[in-house]
Amino acid sequence: MLSAVAGVALATAVTAAHAQETVKIGLIVPMTGGQASTGQQINNAIKLYMQKNGDTVAGKKIEIILRDDATLPDNTKRMAQELIVNDKVNVIAGFGVTPSALAAAPLATQAKVPQVVMAAGTSIITERSPYIVRTSFTLAQSSTIIGDWAAKNGIKKVATLTSDYAPGNDALQFFKEHFIAGGGQIVEEVKVPLANPDFAPFLQRMKDSKPDAVFVFVPAGQGGNFMKQYAERGLDKSGIKVIGPGDVTDDDLLNGMGDAVLGTVTAHIYSAAHPSAMNKEFVAAYKKAYGVRPGFMAVGGYDGIHLIYEALKKTGGKADGDSLIAAMKGLAWESPRGPISIDPETRDIVQNVYIRKVEKVDGELYNVEFATFEAVKDAGKTKK
Ligand code: PHB
Repeated sequence: MLSAVAGVALATAVTAAHAQETVKIGLIVPMTGGQASTGQQINNAIKLYMQKNGDTVAGKKIEIILRDDATLPDNTKRMAQELIVNDKVNVIAGFGVTPSALAAAPLATQAKVPQVVMAAGTSIITERSPYIVRTSFTLAQSSTIIGDWAAKNGIKKVATLTSDYAPGNDALQFFKEHFIAGGGQIVEEVKVPLANPDFAPFLQRMKDSKPDAVFVFVPAGQGGNFMKQYAERGLDKSGIKVIGPGDVTDDDLLNGMGDAVLGTVTAHIYSAAHPSAMNKEFVAAYKKAYGVRPGFMAVGGYDGIHLIYEALKKTGGKADGDSLIAAMKGLAWESPRGPISIDPETRDIVQNVYIRKVEKVDGELYNVEFATFEAVKDAGKTKK
């Protein structure tokens, strides 16, 4: 009897000690389905970071619990709930698309668990919970800049093709505002579904109507399919340019897109060709480990885990939600993409946006950066 009681007490003590010594991160991303490349890039990058920096920080062992939500927000919500209630995670992270990030937000608030958004890019996300911090990007950051650039660079008539959900609507809205203010004209607006979009009818019409450029937002993972259909219809040879935020020329797929993609100009936050020492090392290590290039989703994951490590260092290992969120606000560091920081007011990322053109470098296709806009905040916060 006595030993049984002692056994229970010991088990409880061991559990408590374990809970104190381990910081658990529930990583919810799509590892299968249409957006699988997002989850794979994020998971790869986190593993790489932990191999390089160790799996212990401020005396705590870091444990990642990976869940595949297959891009279904109902799954994301159920998994976040289970991770918080059963696994008692200290942080939830990942979120491959906006609907998934939004589905988890009320749970982060209720449980006071930080939610680190490493992929999704709709402006509104960080306003949905005081426990959300973002290390990805917003569509407003890049679309405002490409809108200005297009108007200033001889592009007068643009047709738009955007994925019909929140980030596509942000991309469209912010591009239009800036392009029209600069004197440009929108000649057609087409929205395609997030799942299994068919670009053919739009591309066929473009061949006849011949705008100066098509503005495209499709989420990471879909750019290859778009470019293939654009090339098949000979649009590259008809002089109709592709412009947009850089999701369409994600480095993860870019080199397989063929020469039709040469000359595509996009505004975005990361290029595998970013010429910093840190990025060269990051790209080399990622290629060595996984045999492919990292894209911008990998960088969102790499910076997300770095943010959690740095916050834990700042709190001396205290891992309750309020301490971690307070520590994350205002953190600034050098990322493979360039200098970044977490805006202490909005908990959103502040970062450089680069204008890039697809060029061939040493026989491979890259987004080569040729202009930099420094420390860009999310325009969506003040305008909506
Ligand atoms: C999103 O759903 O917020 C999202 C996903 C992939 C992207 C951009 C935005 O490339």
